[in-house]
Amino acid sequence: MNGIFITLEGPDGSGKTTVSTRLAERLEEAGIQFVKTREPGGSKISDVVRDIFLNDLDSRMDAKTEALLIAGARRQHVVELIRPALAEGKLVLCDRFIDSSLAYQGVGRDIGIDEVLKINQFAVETTMPDVTFYLDVPADVGLARIAANKGREVNRLDMEDVTFHSKVQAGYETVRDMFPERIEIIDATRTVEEIVADIFDRIQAKLS
Ligand code: TYD
Repeated sequence: MNGIFITLEGPDGSGKTTVSTRLAERLEEAGIQFVKTREPGGSKISDVVRDIFLNDLDSRMDAKTEALLIAGARRQHVVELIRPALAEGKLVLCDRFIDSSLAYQGVGRDIGIDEVLKINQFAVETTMPDVTFYLDVPADVGLARIAANKGREVNRLDMEDVTFHSKVQAGYETVRDMFPERIEIIDATRTVEEIVADIFDRIQAKLS
């Protein structure tokens, strides 16, 4: 039996981390068995890459190095954790996956979506999400939230300017248009409770 692979996506400032934590609590309360994971990371090797990817603030990482590193970490995550869990029939809930690379590296870093998609297809082969919930916030709301959060957490990508984050937003819009059958758009301007209830209902509908 094959499980179901669900990913959560959204630009910085979309409230994804809070939603993902609350969604996991909601699934647990409902007695739904699931494996929660995230990217960058999700396996021992991938977590080492996460550290380099997010915390190496001194070195100027080349854009393609960034894309390849994250694709390599994704490959290990898929092979070590995601595929085995799906093969056991589990629900896998993953915070960020391939669409993040398409938006951040493909558009934010100007590599091009098609190029980044190619290296990621090499990495994941046929392991793609069954459904992706995209937390949608208008660009100005997302950017205002990032600005308000400055100082709370500083990783390499948080240090990027408004132009970068605007490009990522635009990138996600293109990615959504590329995969309309997989990506479901969630209005993330609502309260966390409303957003979580909406996603929870959609997951339940898929499970039944
Ligand atoms: P993280 O602290 O996990 O933030 P978030 O809560 O927003 O997921 O940082 C992850 C950062 O890495 C985020 O800015 C997006 C970036 N990223 C990429 O650029 N490409 C990718 O493929 C992934 C998975 C993440």
